[in-house]
Amino acid sequence: TQRYCVFGHPVGHSKSPLIHAEFAHQTHQTIEYSAIEAPLDDFAGAWRRFVEGGGRGANVTVPFKQEAFALCDTLSHRALRAGAVNTLIVGGNGRTYGDNTDGMGLVRDLAYHRVAVKDARILVVGAGGAVRGLLEPLLNEAPAAVAVVNRTAAKAEALAADFSGLGLITGGGFETLAGSYDLVINGTSASLSGDLPPLPDDVFAKRAWAYDMMYSSEPTVFLQWAGPRGARLLDGLGMLVEQAAESFFLWRNVRPETSPVRDLLRKSLD
Ligand code: ATR
Repeated sequence: TQRYCVFGHPVGHSKSPLIHAEFAHQTHQTIEYSAIEAPLDDFAGAWRRFVEGGGRGANVTVPFKQEAFALCDTLSHRALRAGAVNTLIVGGNGRTYGDNTDGMGLVRDLAYHRVAVKDARILVVGAGGAVRGLLEPLLNEAPAAVAVVNRTAAKAEALAADFSGLGLITGGGFETLAGSYDLVINGTSASLSGDLPPLPDDVFAKRAWAYDMMYSSEPTVFLQWAGPRGARLLDGLGMLVEQAAESFFLWRNVRPETSPVRDLLRKSLD
């Protein structure tokens, strides 16, 4: 049995053990996947002890993604761009390889729901770590343009500058918003506090999609706002399952079916 885990703090509510147990069952892989609450001041030690105990790889969640990034011997291109790691892999000679599957998870979830990204006009709301991880996979899908808006305008401007080599991307404050979009992605943590980003009523183009990177048993405030404005709605549950599938693939070289796990997870929320 090969050992994997998710590191977080807190980590008790993590759905990752459930998701990976289902993937393993489905693909007939014998693995053990647990949740480990690493101490806030010693993530590197927690990872080292896990590897010494036979651990082969891990997922990393809040608040350790930057620390995981810092301890890797080798990093994927998308992890480097994201400045954060959500997937750790023990490679040859015990070296640690870091990747970031979060952004690809969102892109795959969009594909699952047949949301057109190529040639789409996309608005990304927020400019924190979650959005930084998303931009490379998103721009690789060749959208017409990506606008990033953020409460702190300078952070959106900096992101747009960092990613400008990958496609047409602009950044600014909410007051710079104009026009309508085919896809509006809420990448802020505003939903956590029940806050709504200040978007104009006409932000959605005809048959647009509203995507919240968060999820909960009830629709998020952003999706509750977007529904009556004509948007089709998606929350972040599919992204969670898809990023997990990408990690599972990196570890096991087998790609699980996400559809049954989506259903299972949705039921587990009620
Ligand atoms: P994460 O890792 O989830 O991206 P983060 O890096 O702390 O977390 O980023 C949080 C994002 O949510 C930021 O874009 C933040 O805006 P600021 O950069 O202006 O702080 C945004 N955010 C958080 N609370 C918000 C609120 N109530 N209204 C609007 N934006 C909010």
